[in-house]
Amino acid sequence: MSYTEIVKEKFEKLKDKKDVIVLAIESSCDETSIAVVKNGREVLSNIIASQIEIHRRFGGVVPEVASRNHILAISNVYNEALLQAGISDKDIDAVAITYGAGLMGALLVGVNFAKGLAYSLKLPLIAVSHVHGHISANYISHQELKPPFICLMVSGGHTAILKVEDYNRLTMLGTTVDDAVGEAFDKVARVIGLPYPGGPEIDRLAKKGEFVYDFTVSKSLKNTYNFSFSGIKTEVVNLVHNAMQRGEEISKEDLACSFQECVTKELAEKVVKASLNSGLKDLVVAGGVGANSRLKERLGELCKQNGLNFYSPSLKYCTDNAAMIGSMAYYMICDGLGLAPLSLTAKPNVQL
Ligand code: KG4
Ligand code: ZN
Repeated sequence: MSYTEIVKEKFEKLKDKKDVIVLAIESSCDETSIAVVKNGREVLSNIIASQIEIHRRFGGVVPEVASRNHILAISNVYNEALLQAGISDKDIDAVAITYGAGLMGALLVGVNFAKGLAYSLKLPLIAVSHVHGHISANYISHQELKPPFICLMVSGGHTAILKVEDYNRLTMLGTTVDDAVGEAFDKVARVIGLPYPGGPEIDRLAKKGEFVYDFTVSKSLKNTYNFSFSGIKTEVVNLVHNAMQRGEEISKEDLACSFQECVTKELAEKVVKASLNSGLKDLVVAGGVGANSRLKERLGELCKQNGLNFYSPSLKYCTDNAAMIGSMAYYMICDGLGLAPLSLTAKPNVQL
């Protein structure tokens, strides 16, 4: 039998298998991660080789540098993932891979490694969307959580309010019309001289500051679930430059606090409104900016006031990791979705 015939048969049988072990690979940006996940919810290992220190000196991710470092790291990360999970390659039922969205070169390293592995072990290859994977991080952290729910997706590349109708069925209620919110955090951080990645730095600095500047966010989008973050970014840049020209000192702490207050207020209020209008009781945050302490605080408070249940992934599953990809792949397998041919390639701009 050919590889295609063998894996088709194996894939179909997985739906009825009691325990499904997925080996998942994630290399869309600057984290080389491989995880072993059992039945979508139990993480046996989740190894992450972060390149943050490497890219920090450039002030952001350099795509070519990211690709090269994925190549250097991936074999060791694979061995470590199996070792920590206490399994051998014979115990794996399927190989899951992030095929997009992300950086082309970085994605290709993971995709090619996954294809080689799937082919040599004669295992089904499951193609997972990175953003969809971020939602699944919540299934790992909250065993009781099940769709339907409303999700605020906030990362370096995406900002959206989603209705998660089922594990594999999403409806977009709103999105950003320009920058992603993580991008805005990173750009504002750079303007005030903070290192990459800027989001956690702003989060940290904001705790020492006061709310001084009432920036405008998404002004013309008031009655929609859409967002705009390019205006606030420009306001911050202009404020800093004007102050520099006048020789005035601006408190970075106050600026970080004010920016974070304005942005998190907008995100939290809109997603809670969407939840209340949907009639769904569970509200979930997903993606790297979901690690923001003020955003979680606001969402927690607003949900409590409005009788909603608020869920966020534990910190290690908020930012990029392969465990969330393994979880998502399991639910795709359950619905008979995602089986990819060996001609699979990376799709840097895959849509939600
Ligand atoms: O989900 P993620 O790890 O990668 C993408 O899929 O984009 O998100 C990365 C983004 C970066 O913009 C980073 O600055 C932001 O998440 N981020 C934060 C925090 N931690 C990470 N933003 C605000 N507050 C944080 N604590
Ligand atoms: Zn991500």
